Amino acid sequence: MHNPGSNASTMKKRVFSGMRPTGRLHLGNFFGALQNWVGLQDEYECIFGIVDYHALTSEYADVDRIRQSVLGVAMDWLASGIDPEKSTIMIQSLVPEHAELHLLLSMIVPIPWLERVPTYKEQIQQLSDKDLSTYGFLGYPLLQAADILIYKADLVPVGEDQVAHIELCREIARRFNHFYGSVFPEPQAKLTRMARLPGTDGRKMSKSYGNEIQLSEDPKSISEKVMKMVTDPARVRRTDPGNPQICPVFDYHKLLTDDDGRQWVTEGCTTAGIGCTDCKELLLKNMLPVLQPLYEKRVELEQKPDQVRELLIEGSTKAQGLARETMGEVRQAMKLDY
Ligand code: TRP
Ligand code: SF4
Repeated sequence: MHNPGSNASTMKKRVFSGMRPTGRLHLGNFFGALQNWVGLQDEYECIFGIVDYHALTSEYADVDRIRQSVLGVAMDWLASGIDPEKSTIMIQSLVPEHAELHLLLSMIVPIPWLERVPTYKEQIQQLSDKDLSTYGFLGYPLLQAADILIYKADLVPVGEDQVAHIELCREIARRFNHFYGSVFPEPQAKLTRMARLPGTDGRKMSKSYGNEIQLSEDPKSISEKVMKMVTDPARVRRTDPGNPQICPVFDYHKLLTDDDGRQWVTEGCTTAGIGCTDCKELLLKNMLPVLQPLYEKRVELEQKPDQVRELLIEGSTKAQGLARETMGEVRQAMKLDY
């Protein structure tokens, strides 16, 4: 495959992914992305970015929250098993080369390419409490492309909803290479396949609904939330049979419970052989051993914020070295190397 400029410094393929610092991470972030990232660290050279510029594209009115979230996101990553010995963790705005590449790419990206990104009009409507008719918000998939291309990443672990952005990134790389010569390899999306984890009330997990379970939440509070979770509304009484396929609790079982356990739930639920309490107790039995160590690690990390900050600065410096190399090539290709 034609793969100009691919990362030759190591044998490993390079991975980049990012997360916005807009609050505490929840279980959806953990099972949807983080757990995946953790598993990539041995096989790939990973760079993980706390993408604060991205947060600004929609949260520009609340810079305090972005600022306060950055360290917490890093702590959640570390608690989840992102290992700074193996992977580079960085803060996007500490590597302003991302912004420079974004600017240069903006010269060649036709506006309709951005306007037809499926999430664009949808989000403007959904987040109607914010004015998102900004230049920055339209350009955010381009910023994402710059994040990926600046490290010449081969693979980008993302969810289904972001695949269109990676496709756009590939088109942008092609267009750049067409005008200025082969600089950028075309990255590939690495799909993280997972059932969307609903909130405790069955709706989309979201801060605004108050139905979140946070990643580093105290096990006691997790247990309380799980025991109060909404179930199949048909199960009014213990003797009413239910349908796991429409129950949010079962979505959690899909992630945490083995085949035998899920079989037991399905059988018991549809015949009213078990109650929802039994079902939730099994879930907690499988869930707490996964989350408890995370909670403990997070509490430990909260005692040493300076060390975490240090790791982010070190990682950003390392990332900046790579970003500068690419920008050297980009400036040369675009005749900006005075
Ligand atoms: N756009 C992603 C999101 O909103 C976050 C992100 C920013 C990202 N830059 C990236 C993901 C680069 C993958 C690669 O969730
Ligand atoms: Fe949901 Fe389990 Fe109750 Fe069935 S038994 S309705 S799957 S909580």
